[in-house]
Amino acid sequence: MIFAGIAAGGIGSRMGFDIPKQFIKLKGKPIIIWTVEKFLADSRIEKIYLGVHSERIGYTESLVNEYIEQKERICIIKGGKDRNSTVLRIIEKISEDYGINPDDIILTHDAVRPFVTDKIINGNIQTALSGKPCTTAVKATDTILYSENGTETEKTLDRNCLYHAQTPQSFNIKTFIDAYSRLTEKQKSSLTDACGVFNGAGIPVSIVEGDVSNIKITTPYDLKIAEALI
Ligand code: CTP
Repeated sequence: MIFAGIAAGGIGSRMGFDIPKQFIKLKGKPIIIWTVEKFLADSRIEKIYLGVHSERIGYTESLVNEYIEQKERICIIKGGKDRNSTVLRIIEKISEDYGINPDDIILTHDAVRPFVTDKIINGNIQTALSGKPCTTAVKATDTILYSENGTETEKTLDRNCLYHAQTPQSFNIKTFIDAYSRLTEKQKSSLTDACGVFNGAGIPVSIVEGDVSNIKITTPYDLKIAEALI
């Protein structure tokens, strides 16, 4: 089966609004709903799990009731203390609800990336079903400098080898659980994302071509761009 896990448990401190940014409305509809609709549009996806802050579960349920018809394909659960924990909780819940079959895959996605495209979702599904974990990414267009002290640069990185990571990140759930169980506690504590689990276990992560419009809405400036894009 194919599942989607939407990480929506953050508080949006950099946005600075009194509600977490995934609940801000764009053209009259909350960002999280725009995002969920992209995954609902792919009928191969069995269920979409939303990991939200414990204080926002009831609120998210009310939004789903208000905006979404196919409610039976949505499951709202409590997220974790950081994004990775939210994704881990979603995987645990899938395991409780369905058991894990060897072919099951999950697409993990940020709630605050509402511009994900059908092409990106399809690329993630195809790659994960072929057994390869994958991350969505776009090639870097700016030159990126490397500095450890923040005042002088030590090197200019080769742009041809640099990518901006986006989401979804998608993978076989059983392979993920096996790889995660092989990590040391130190590796687990320094994970930045799901790809880190595979990298830590020596499993390569494929790149699915993203889109410059697949932005993560983080700051008030991003919100202006999102309003223009929508
Ligand atoms: N996220 C999550 N659980 C957390 C923290 C973050 O599911 N405990 C989610 C966010 O809701 C968001 C995604 O991970 O959809 C990317 O995180 P980020 O943009 O950093 O969101 P916030 O943590 O909300 O933002 P900030 O760092 O500004 O507080």
